[in-house]
Formats: sequence, C-alpha cells, structure tokens
Amino acid sequence: MTQVTDKQAENPYIFGDAELDRQRLQTQTKLFAGYLRHHAREFCGSRVKSILDLGCGEGQLGFVLKEVYPDALLVGVDRDAKAIARAESQAALLGLTNTRYEVQDIEHELSAGQFDLIYCSVIMLHMRSPQQAVARAYAALNPGGYLWVKDFDPEILADSEVIRFLGGSNVRMIGLLTDGMAKIGRHPYFMAELPAWLEQLGAENIRSEREYYPLGGTSAEGIATLAIGLGAFLTAQPRLAKAHDISERELAALYSEVVNRALSTKEGSQAFLGNIIAQKPAAASNGGMAAG
Ligand SMILES: C[S@@+](CC[C@H](N)C(=O)[O-])C[C@H]1O[C@@H](n2cnc3c(N)ncnc32)[C@H](O)[C@@H]1O
Repeated sequence: MTQVTDKQAENPYIFGDAELDRQRLQTQTKLFAGYLRHHAREFCGSRVKSILDLGCGEGQLGFVLKEVYPDALLVGVDRDAKAIARAESQAALLGLTNTRYEVQDIEHELSAGQFDLIYCSVIMLHMRSPQQAVARAYAALNPGGYLWVKDFDPEILADSEVIRFLGGSNVRMIGLLTDGMAKIGRHPYFMAELPAWLEQLGAENIRSEREYYPLGGTSAEGIATLAIGLGAFLTAQPRLAKAHDISERELAALYSEVVNRALSTKEGSQAFLGNIIAQKPAAASNGGMAAG
C-alpha cells in the first residue's frame, strides 16, 4: 500500500469533520448500492475482468461491483488512508479475493494499472481539475473499457419538482453548498461539461442516466436522502460561512428553516444524481474487451 503524508490523510473530505462525514458517507453508500447492483451489467456489459473504484472510500461500492463481476480484479484507490485501511479489512472479512487497495491522490497520479471498468462515484467534483482527472482515468482504460462517472447533477437546481418540494430556503442551501465548493476551487457543476470532454478524448457510446432517490416523505430511503443532504450542509457550515462571508448564525437559521419545512410535510419528492458512462473504442487488433 502506497504511503501518503499525515496531512493528506487528515483531510479526506473537503468539508467539515472527517469522522462525522465518514459516517454520513457510509449511509450514502448503502443508498447507492442498489442502483449500482441493478444497472452495472446494463451499462457495462458482462465481460468486465478488471475494475478500478476511483475514490473508493471504505470500499462498499466496489464490493457491489465484485458481486456483479465476481471473477474480476478489483482495485480501490483513495487518498484517505483510514478509509483504505477499512476497505482492506472489510474485503478480508467478506472473504473477497483478487482485490487490492492503494492510497493515492488521483489529482496528481493514477498508477493503478489498466482496467475494463473505472467507476467514479461522487469523486470528480472534489478535483481541482476534473478534466485532467477524467483524462487520466480514460487513459487507464483498456480498449473497449467503460468509464462510469456518477456525480452531482447541476440540473437538479432547476428542476421544478424538486424546487416545489424543497422551497426557496432549501434551494438556497444547496446553492450555497455547491457555490461554496466552487469558491474553494472545486467543480460541482462539471457534469454539464463532461460529455464534451469525453468526446474530445475520443470516447464513444456516451450515455447519460439519472439515478433517482426518494426525497423526504415517510419512507426510510426518503428520510436518508434528506438526512445526507442536511448532513453535508451541517458539517460544511464553518467553511461555508468563510467562503460566502455569511455568519454561521445565518447559516444555522437557514438550516433550521429547511429542517422545519421537511418535518412539516409527509409528502415526499424525488432527487437525482447524474451518471455518464462512456466507452473507449475497442482496438481492432489487440483483443481489447469486447462488447457484451
Ligand atoms: C463522497 S466520497 C465518495 C466515496 C465513494 N466513491 C462513494 O460513492 O461512496 C469522496 C471520496 O473521494 C476521496 N477523494 C477526494 N479527493 C481525492 C483525491 N484527490 N484522490 C483520491 N481520493 C480522493 C475522498 O477521500 C472520499 O473517500
């Protein structure tokens, strides 16, 4: 396992308290697992023999991909050494073979090998240069391999159904969160540009798929989706206050307004993430991964 400095390991996630955010991400991953399990073969076929889970966190989504493609090599990469250690021990507990985990900051390098599927779940928006990170990932694909990027879909900010349910204060809250990321040099809106970047790289079969989740209401999933969004805002508050030059008191008041609105209705709505999946052309002669 590659070593990183303490400084890198200490700041695994750009907002807030690392341990709190870890717990939030564990819940989020449980929510994400079903969609991945259900759609992996539909999007990437059945012949995947090697998988890179980029920004794998504690590895849970990679474990789902291992369920779908049990014979494939699974490599997980993340810059958070603690998360990688947990992924390694969990993989051992599950008795998984043909897995490997590496601590790597993919902003600077990607040297994990060549893959048939590179899965990037909520990672690219954390990059200072997602375009370069995408190019690096694309270069690590085998011919015929798939790059699958799942991330925040900026279209949600203009979705009339979401706006109707969330109301003005909640939409402001999401905007503060995403604009706050942009102000510190991250790219929460990059998904709108990704298809063009992929075309420039020569990718083919570029498809966009929305991943829907219930939002609010009385179902366990709807409550979890809401809690994950609120949790992000809560842990990010000190940094958001600085980024936007707003008092923490004002942010706390906004947060209470949003929570009260959510609690005052039993009727839920839907939220969504974006998925963009693209394929590297199969090389004519070197026996790259065939479609299927
Ligand atoms: C929102 S979490 C997503 C985790 C997992 N992919 C999932 O969907 O559950 C973002 C992950 O990206 C990792 N990350 C952020 N910047 C990174 C970088 N430059 N290099 C490698 N990993 C990074 C974080 O440590 C964190 O585990």
